Amino acid sequence: MSTATHTTPLFSRNLRKQYPVAVRGEGCWIIDAEGRRYLDASGQAAVVSIGHGVQEIGRAMAEQSNRIAFAHTTQFHSQPAEKLAARVLAIAPRNFQNGGRVYFVSGGSEATETAIKLTRQYFLESKQPSRYRIVARKQSYHGSTLGAMSVSGNVARRSPYAPMIPEWGHVAPCFCYHCPFDKTFPECNIACADDLDTFLRNHDASSVAAFLFEPVVGATLGSAPAVDGYTARIAEICRKHGILLIADEVMTGMGRTGKPFASEHWGLEPDIILTGKGIASGYAPLGAVLVSPRLVDAFEKGTAAFMHGFTYQAHPVATAVGDAVFDYLETHTLFERVTPAGQTLRNSLAPLDSHPHVGQVRGLGLLQGVEFVKEKSTHEPFPKEAGIAEGIRQAALEKNVLLYPGQGCVDGARGDHVLLAPPFIITPEECQLIADALRYALAKVFSA
Ligand SMILES: Cc1ncc(COP(=O)(O)O)c(C=O)c1O
Repeated sequence: MSTATHTTPLFSRNLRKQYPVAVRGEGCWIIDAEGRRYLDASGQAAVVSIGHGVQEIGRAMAEQSNRIAFAHTTQFHSQPAEKLAARVLAIAPRNFQNGGRVYFVSGGSEATETAIKLTRQYFLESKQPSRYRIVARKQSYHGSTLGAMSVSGNVARRSPYAPMIPEWGHVAPCFCYHCPFDKTFPECNIACADDLDTFLRNHDASSVAAFLFEPVVGATLGSAPAVDGYTARIAEICRKHGILLIADEVMTGMGRTGKPFASEHWGLEPDIILTGKGIASGYAPLGAVLVSPRLVDAFEKGTAAFMHGFTYQAHPVATAVGDAVFDYLETHTLFERVTPAGQTLRNSLAPLDSHPHVGQVRGLGLLQGVEFVKEKSTHEPFPKEAGIAEGIRQAALEKNVLLYPGQGCVDGARGDHVLLAPPFIITPEECQLIADALRYALAKVFSA
């Protein structure tokens, strides 16, 4: 019998695992109850942007909590929520200016749920009641609640709940390293984007309400950005079929890829943007749904009342944290730091490229992935049972470096990667520690 099950009253993520207790954070480091220091190379899960242990944030939480901690959104707005909404809209793509609105929630999954329901009600307000399906992509992740699971294409996370979730349709991802069409960019003419058009033409487009996608696929594919031209083609297809375009920027939003929102790398103007994670840098549970003016307009001309809600939406303390994190990002010019810091990280990782089992180092800004392959020339993955990504994580941990491993990037089962998403304050020396730990892990895992 595992002793771990008796040492904690928590229903852990994995009941067979022992978890150290995190007691303090300092910059890019987490310190546990035994005093061991860990370098947070993945910002936990692409969450921590400003670093751990920033005292200003705690003070802002205390101040807001002492003033007013909670006021229900059926009766009140709060100053921090209004302020943060205006600031987030100001850095959003152009189409959110002049009348966009923000719906604050407590995390990414709630953002996805909210977007699904908002999309449905938008079409009711617009007198198109047949539209309700949200088409998404294979190899994607949009959250763990049942609505968010139904759009997620992540096979492993989806499969236990398959009987409980609808299948509204999943089209091909944009993932050149393992192209689902065995083509090469740009000769492929972005066939993966056209897969959406083909799907809509063959599957009752009149019932489809939106297309939802990650501009840079995070956890599932290990930071796979869309190729140039993809998002423009997708936007055109959505327009042609009269459906909304939703960008899931829960991981990529709030500066992680070098722009406030990753959509801006390609000049994309989605109808809805979801964000989370970095918006509060882990100091409070917070997510947001950015709603473009034309959707707001349809609600205003219709019932004006969104039939949805959470007790803790737009929470005053959580949004005060969002404001304090935003202040910190601005005061320390951290939005601007991501691209050069990402380049430093890439330079540190460059020597790994020649390793026979490093297939690709990829990503944008401070969202980078390293994929491990059995055969470099063919991109053939290891069998799932080899557990390569987890092996790399464990070996890097021996060097006190925390990584976010993932499996299934090829077909939902095979394909191993680790995701790197350190805080925006990462130093060149810390980038080198990450590269050193990865080199050690590669040597250890592949020495056998
Ligand atoms: C792209 C994306 N969407 C949604 C989510 C769900 O967010 P949360 O775990 O905060 O509910 C995640 C979490 O990893 C994500 O990466």
